[in-house]
Amino acid sequence: MERLQKVIAHAGIASRRKAEELIQEGKVRVNGKVIKELGVKVSPHDKIEVQGVPVEREEPVYFVLYKPRGVISSVSDDKGRKVVTDFFPFITERIYPVGRLDYDTSGLLIMTNDGDFANNLMHPTSEVEKVYVAKVKGIPSREAIRSLERGIKLEDGKTAPAKIKMISMEKTKQTAIFEVIIHEGRNRQVRRMFEAIGHPVMKLKRERYGFLTLQGLQAGEARELTPHEVKQLRVMATKPKK
Ligand code: URA
Repeated sequence: MERLQKVIAHAGIASRRKAEELIQEGKVRVNGKVIKELGVKVSPHDKIEVQGVPVEREEPVYFVLYKPRGVISSVSDDKGRKVVTDFFPFITERIYPVGRLDYDTSGLLIMTNDGDFANNLMHPTSEVEKVYVAKVKGIPSREAIRSLERGIKLEDGKTAPAKIKMISMEKTKQTAIFEVIIHEGRNRQVRRMFEAIGHPVMKLKRERYGFLTLQGLQAGEARELTPHEVKQLRVMATKPKK
């Protein structure tokens, strides 16, 4: 369910503010009935008309993208850099990423035009498990890794407990590779966590998001989520916090 003014704005008919005015002026009907109050929520099945003209609503679509490095998690970039929607030239719907991966981070990113779905997944209480593989500079001590697992103080507060496992290390090159499992999705979180223990991340990839993996995808490729996967993600997003 989405707010009426948001649906009107999303359909490209008017700005959110203008849509609110149209509603208050009695120019919007839902299933034939004039609605003048703001805050009314509508489902994809409701028929909306603005000044007698039916609102064409996009069907919700859902994709998983293997974002390559060197791409912005946005729908446009004023500096002309590559953005994640460039990988969907065949899609007419206005999709956008659920959360973001840094420009230099590769890996799994969900793309959709379903605002509720995206908001629920991104909500801090949704607790979807995200799995990253991070190559870091130097070889962190066990104790440093334990401190990251317990939660470490960053400028926006202490991180929630994380699971971290060393995959390999190269003593001669002084680098190490870790699998990092977190639930939160703060900005540049993994990079900031390792920075906080003095081992900056050199390379970062998101390998898993909940039950979704990159299996079968090469960097730059996307596939549509199955209806069952979409349902599973919805359930995960609305799970009450333990
Ligand atoms: N953590 C980061 O530091 N960067 C990302 O892109 C995702 C998680």
